[in-house]
Amino acid sequence: MDFEGFATLVKTRRTSLLLDAERPVPAAFVAELCELATWAPNHKKTWPWRFANFTGAGRNRIGEAYFDDLVAAGADPRHPKVMKTKGKYARAGAIVAVGSARDFDETLDAENAYAVAAGIEHILLGATAAGLGSFWGSPPILAAPTATALCGFEKDTKILGLIYLGYSIGEMPAVERPPVIITTIE
Ligand SMILES: Cc1cc2nc3c(=O)[nH]c(=O)nc-3n(C[C@H](O)[C@H](O)[C@H](O)COP(=O)(O)O)c2cc1C
Repeated sequence: MDFEGFATLVKTRRTSLLLDAERPVPAAFVAELCELATWAPNHKKTWPWRFANFTGAGRNRIGEAYFDDLVAAGADPRHPKVMKTKGKYARAGAIVAVGSARDFDETLDAENAYAVAAGIEHILLGATAAGLGSFWGSPPILAAPTATALCGFEKDTKILGLIYLGYSIGEMPAVERPPVIITTIE
């Protein structure tokens, strides 16, 4: 791929929920995307990324786990936004929870998260290159013991995103970026 092709790929990626929720994303392809994530730069080679792929009925299980975590943290279970959590992950063929392993060293802890975030972009770009839509969603709550356990992650894992993946059923308009400002020092 030349630079122009890469630039087009980067700019074509959209955060989109216009996805066919009924059409599964092959687990083998999700595994390829997660493997791509592991090629992100990673200071001290801590390999901090953690992945869980929710498909089929599993998509509602992660929603229900987050609902339980929200309610355990004091959220009103009848609040529409809280109730919506239960079913929101069924809006895509696959949901990949991506976590970052913790480190007792504050700098490495942050750098682990940077590496995982960089890896998530690989997932998004890989999905785009394959013609799939994607959406990086924030977790409904950071302290989420039930969801974290369901993912099979270490208890203290920081879940950085719930990545919706699926076959597109529409196109989102691009969000224009402000002009880039670069300080040049000579
Ligand atoms: C860490 C992170 C968390 C995000 N969480 C959400 C989210 O919870 N809901 C949402 O609508 N978009 C979320 N986004 C996506 C942004 O809203 C999106 O990237 C932005 O609007 C620009 O659109 P684009 O990605 O299509 O260029 C998140 C992005 C990042 C990097």
